[in-house]
Amino acid sequence: MSGKKIYKVVVVGAGKRGKHHAAAFKKNPRFELAGLCDVVPAQLEKAAAELGVSRTSADPLALSKEIQPDIFCFCTPPQIRLSLIRVGIQSGASLIAYEKPMALSMNEAIEIQKAVQAAGVKTVVSHQHRYGVHYQKVKEIISSGAIGRVHTVYGTAVGWMLHMITHLVDYMLWYNDYAPAEWVMGQAAGRGKLRDNHPSPDYVAGFIQFANGVRGIVECGAGAPDVPEVDYWWRKNRIGAQGTEGFAEVLTGGGWRAVTRDQKGVISGEGCMNYELDMGPYVDEMVRWLDDDSQVHPCSGERSFQGFEITMGILRSVVERGQIQLPLGPGEPELDALKRILPETPVLLSSEANRNEYKD
Ligand SMILES: NC(=O)c1ccc[n+]([C@@H]2O[C@H](COP(=O)([O-])OP(=O)(O)OC[C@H]3O[C@@H](n4cnc5c(N)ncnc54)[C@H](O)[C@@H]3O)[C@@H](O)[C@H]2O)c1
Repeated sequence: MSGKKIYKVVVVGAGKRGKHHAAAFKKNPRFELAGLCDVVPAQLEKAAAELGVSRTSADPLALSKEIQPDIFCFCTPPQIRLSLIRVGIQSGASLIAYEKPMALSMNEAIEIQKAVQAAGVKTVVSHQHRYGVHYQKVKEIISSGAIGRVHTVYGTAVGWMLHMITHLVDYMLWYNDYAPAEWVMGQAAGRGKLRDNHPSPDYVAGFIQFANGVRGIVECGAGAPDVPEVDYWWRKNRIGAQGTEGFAEVLTGGGWRAVTRDQKGVISGEGCMNYELDMGPYVDEMVRWLDDDSQVHPCSGERSFQGFEITMGILRSVVERGQIQLPLGPGEPELDALKRILPETPVLLSSEANRNEYKD
């Protein structure tokens, strides 16, 4: 490892995901976890002690001006994105790593991409489930041609939209080789989770027309189908692809399975979403991209933007009705528009497993 640059990192947000990120940076010898920031002093002190970080602050800009990090990482609630992107740019960092969802509206996502591209800063958004062995296996099967020509990619999650949908769309895009989307159409129901800190309709569903002719189908929330093979509620997610000769799919908390052209019956294997296992390769690919501009991170901001635009297009379809052509320009913030038009009618559940989370 000697002679290779050590990248200095500041992590902002010392909650659940901030600690996951900080621990992964600390574990990798190519990073120096140089500073930690949070606006809640008790949270900050506890995390800094656990991680052995001495430079801490409640002010991200002051801390990063002092440290001059190579990586500015933030893992804050979804309400804080563009402002911290601006701090990251001001810090002089070469790469900003941040949590999904990348924004709360198309306008914000457009502003983020404009700002980082103008500044020449690389960005990475944390859709790290893809590092699970079961996610990788499904990709391998699809890419090998074993399910024939892919005609449909799909993703479902019972968790609500701003927690789950960008994960689903990101992996659907991956399984469809990041073909661009031409248009989307969607529907939504239930106002309960509009008040959440991940504001969302209780249920949203969308169709995606990809330029390569593949159909995308995504469903998120109370009405999305149960995944009875998985017990842990947040991991009741199913993402996969159907082809002319079979299918392959991953269950976030329940391994993978496939029917292929060449093997008899259903084939399957293990795997379960695991933060600790997924974060290692996720941060390691940041090193590769910083070392070599051609080694673009698979979770680049550009890819995240592609998925976010699809999601916001689906919301615009709910509001405007009909098909929505991509790419999207600026417009009425999609969640504000949903608040304006979604009826009070309570959402209908797909299964009793969802009742606990969708009470109002
Ligand atoms: N990629 C994944 O698998 C995954 C999983 C869970 C959550 N997330 C996402 O991660 C983000 C954070 O979620 P979490 O579960 O870590 O939340 P959390 O509440 O545990 O942590 C957020 C932290 O940010 C701090 N904070 C808030 N405003 C701040 C500011 N202006 N400056 C500095 N610190 C500030 C809070 O005090 C808190 O400690 C969310 O966007 C969420 O959607 C991603």
